[in-house]
Amino acid sequence: MIPVRVGNSILDHDHAELSCLLEDLHALWINRCGLRALLAGLIRFEDALCAHFAIEEAILGGCGYPGLAHHKGQHRAFLGEVATFRKALAEGNHPEDGRPLHGFDIASRLSDLLYAHELVEDSSYIPALTVLPDVPEDVIRQRLSPLVEEATQLKTAPQPVLHAADAPALTPQATHALTRLTREMAGGGLKPEQVAADFLPYWVEQTPLSC
Ligand SMILES: [Fe+2]
Ligand SMILES: [Fe+2]
Repeated sequence: MIPVRVGNSILDHDHAELSCLLEDLHALWINRCGLRALLAGLIRFEDALCAHFAIEEAILGGCGYPGLAHHKGQHRAFLGEVATFRKALAEGNHPEDGRPLHGFDIASRLSDLLYAHELVEDSSYIPALTVLPDVPEDVIRQRLSPLVEEATQLKTAPQPVLHAADAPALTPQATHALTRLTREMAGGGLKPEQVAADFLPYWVEQTPLSC
């Protein structure tokens, strides 16, 4: 599917990756790679989707998007559907009619869901993204530096200490968002300048004191 661009480089990067992960899922089915591979592919998609939603919600919260509560509800419903597929796939059954679950069913249904969500729900917040919080540059630099440090550590050590300075104040969802950003920086998918420009102003606006 064609990822929808919303004009924020972090979110556009995520949308492109989610599309790629669904294409991978289709490919796993077409190439008859088996249930375990299909399940692993679905879990990769679910993990990326969950982290994307956490990042998106942090950004929307930081720009004061009025439709945030509704948007969060759509995210939870989407994740619920993915979890249902994951469980059904793990058991090898279709949750509704008892016929064997087909890899094609999953990849197609998730593509439809993702495309509809990006086209309708995500496109609705585009105007709100133009309201960039006014955060001093030194504050952004201060918040960026531990993330870059952690990304650097990730290149050499698989399990660095996670956001040590912020850890006590982080919710699991925030941890998920920051972990994804640092991993993407470590892997070269995102540049620190992108995180500084398109994530941190919204994040700092939401979490001004301790994280
Ligand atoms: Fe969304
Ligand atoms: Fe999105």
